[in-house]
Amino acid sequence: MDNIKEINEYLDRVLVSKEQIQEMVADLGKRITEDYNGKKLILIGVLKGGFVFLSDLVREIKIPVEMDFIAVSSYGSSTKTSGVVRLIKDIDVPLNDKHVIIVEDIIDSGLTLTYLKEMFAARNPLSLKICTAFDKPERRKVELKAEYSGIEIPDEYVVGYGLDYDGILRNLPELYVLDRKIYEK
Ligand code: IMP
Ligand code: MG
Repeated sequence: MDNIKEINEYLDRVLVSKEQIQEMVADLGKRITEDYNGKKLILIGVLKGGFVFLSDLVREIKIPVEMDFIAVSSYGSSTKTSGVVRLIKDIDVPLNDKHVIIVEDIIDSGLTLTYLKEMFAARNPLSLKICTAFDKPERRKVELKAEYSGIEIPDEYVVGYGLDYDGILRNLPELYVLDRKIYEK
């Protein structure tokens, strides 16, 4: 029989509180509102992880904005990405008359967003920027910077606020460090 754990058994400690997240999202929403006033803007959320951040972020943006989603999966183990990105769901609108912001949960190696940036750039949007909730700059394998970056975190595997371990724990409202005993033997 499957051994179902309590949610606390997965978690080491809170890294970013609900209040810190709210403040970060409000700040990014305000900056985007100011920067894109009078411009045709589309936010493209990266599923699955980006859905929580995107849904909070759009409610802090006070100008008309379109949104869409893409889904990607990267091959690898549950706590390490391989850098090989597979596009599972694309958007179905053209981008050549729009300003685009890609919305991600976290930048780690930078490989996913490098791939997505190239893919969207080829569709000739009016501009193309990246917005991420969290960033682990120490882990970068390629040079990549988000124009809108929320909170920098250390090199730890984190869960919650959209981020998963093996498909679960996305529903936690705070960002937690995953307990090492979960993936280290
Ligand atoms: P990158 O391509 O290495 O930048 O990885 C980006 C993707 O890896 C993110 O969209 C996440 O889905 C996943 N990822 C990276 N670090 C973490 C983490 O600490 N927890 C959960 N998922 C992560
Ligand atoms: Mg993931």
